[in-house]
Amino acid sequence: MCGIVGGIGKEHLKDVLIGGLKDLDYRGYDSAGIALVNESKINLYRAVGTISHLEEKLPQEDDYFMGIAHTRWATHGVPSVKNCHPVASYNKKVYLVHNGVIENYLELKSSLLKSGYSFRGDTDSEVVATLIEKYSKSYKNRLKAITKAMNALVGSFALIIIFEDDLNTLYTAKRSSPMILGEGDGFNLIASDAVPIIKYTDKLIELNDDQLAVVKKDSINIYDMDLDEVSKIYTHKDPELLQKDLNGYPHFMLKEIEEIESVVRKLMLTYYQEGSFTFDEEMIKAIKRADHIIFIACGTSYHASLVGARYFRHVGKEASVYIASEWAFYPVFPGRRPLVIMLSQSGETADLIHCLKTVTENDVRSIVVTNTKGSTLERGCDFSILLNAGLEVSVASTKAYVAQVTALALLTNTLQNRRKIVKDLDKCCQIISYIRNNVKERIEEMANELKDKKDVFFLGRGYDYDFSLEASLKLKEISYIHSEAIAGGELKHGPIALIEKGTPVIVFVTDDVTASSMRGNIQEVKARGADVYVISTKSLSQEGDFIVIEDYDRYLSSVAISSIAFYFAYYVSLFKGLNVDKPRNLAKAVTVE
Ligand code: M6R
Repeated sequence: MCGIVGGIGKEHLKDVLIGGLKDLDYRGYDSAGIALVNESKINLYRAVGTISHLEEKLPQEDDYFMGIAHTRWATHGVPSVKNCHPVASYNKKVYLVHNGVIENYLELKSSLLKSGYSFRGDTDSEVVATLIEKYSKSYKNRLKAITKAMNALVGSFALIIIFEDDLNTLYTAKRSSPMILGEGDGFNLIASDAVPIIKYTDKLIELNDDQLAVVKKDSINIYDMDLDEVSKIYTHKDPELLQKDLNGYPHFMLKEIEEIESVVRKLMLTYYQEGSFTFDEEMIKAIKRADHIIFIACGTSYHASLVGARYFRHVGKEASVYIASEWAFYPVFPGRRPLVIMLSQSGETADLIHCLKTVTENDVRSIVVTNTKGSTLERGCDFSILLNAGLEVSVASTKAYVAQVTALALLTNTLQNRRKIVKDLDKCCQIISYIRNNVKERIEEMANELKDKKDVFFLGRGYDYDFSLEASLKLKEISYIHSEAIAGGELKHGPIALIEKGTPVIVFVTDDVTASSMRGNIQEVKARGADVYVISTKSLSQEGDFIVIEDYDRYLSSVAISSIAFYFAYYVSLFKGLNVDKPRNLAKAVTVE
């Protein structure tokens, strides 16, 4: 799960590549490296930590002709200089950067060891470099050597390769990991996504699986695995991709939470115009034809799917929700006419891409709800619902989660032409704005009180339970506090054993169907000494509740009050002095399985 970027012929190439790494650090940020080529020499710089650590090691001059760079999220081998990319082959004939995971690398490594090769680091990528070097001995044609290696690889890879005896050419190849080429005037660029490229050229080409490209200063030629040249197909990318700007906020997470209201309003305007819903009619027909909706997603998107499944059940459709990495191993297609809905902010989540292959092989139609136009899932699914939430930079997803739930609410209301949703969402927007202007200080107070706790529990039932799961994930992700979300009714089946004097329990009481049972649960945890913080809506509130919000229609809980939990996680992380936008061990797009 890494970001790679390469370039040839571009002025100030060092800065272009380092800028590209910064654009790609959402894919990983535990170490970074760059190989810069000039005067027939490959200069290698690598550093553990963020890209700024790498920058400290770089020379002042910036007159390089060609280069490749990498930001890493460790899969094989700890973050260390020897495991940083670019990696060199055994005899330093081949240098490459790699994004992906080679599943059979141990097998390949042991066979290379038997042939007399050895390795400096622990990565699967070094095995690929040495394999290409080995085949280059037998095949003068470099593309042939690369395809030979590709045939031996099991897993996913996007590679940018330099051959030590050909310092005028970049080679690139991919399978199941994204790779975009940018054709410039007298220069060419390559990267894991369009963001590092689009500021220099809008002539973008997406490499398909099992394709290779030969990239020179003035030319790009693409080949299939038989080494037949294939024609270049240019693709369009949204200029919004460029908007990576803090606009005066101290962190992207805070900025993105504060954008939630405008994201919801924009979605309403996009999918409801002049009194009518505007979703793709063919897609609506496909949904109406289906007798079972299968949601597949990961993390926050999985939590949004839980809410979405309730919406579908509410309009009379069977619906089930699966974690992508589970469904991938045990795929099921309930119903006679199932339809798959994948939720993915990035549209690049590897677990989902894996699932999509199975969905397509079984001739089941698919919809992706995504924030990323042109992403792998957007291109691969039959239909897409775009969230138009603007770039989400913070690793912790906030506005995209609310956008996913809002889009699914609009979609399911479309099925019944139920226009009241517009009023309901408008009410939510008022509440979001109220929280932003009037409740933030109260949330900061709660964050200050709980920042040093070891565990924080969230409780809820019904829609409040779905949202508790997300609130808990957000907190643990960026504050490193252990947290669990418990369905109120499950407390007495085990988790209540963890509650003791001073255990913080945050309870949502906004679902009128479940509110009175929740009050019973509150008494149960209070009786065991818990410090309880109740977040309720006016008509369900009781004296002593910590935060009380205006009433709204219960099905929109995840839209109306999600910002309370997001601000809470944000302030806890901030008060602990942690890296809010880039929590440890995580990455924005999880592009490995
Ligand atoms: O891009 P996706 O929505 O497919 O990503 C899924 C998860 O990796 C993601 O939601 C993750 O859980 C977030 N970091 C949560 O804040």
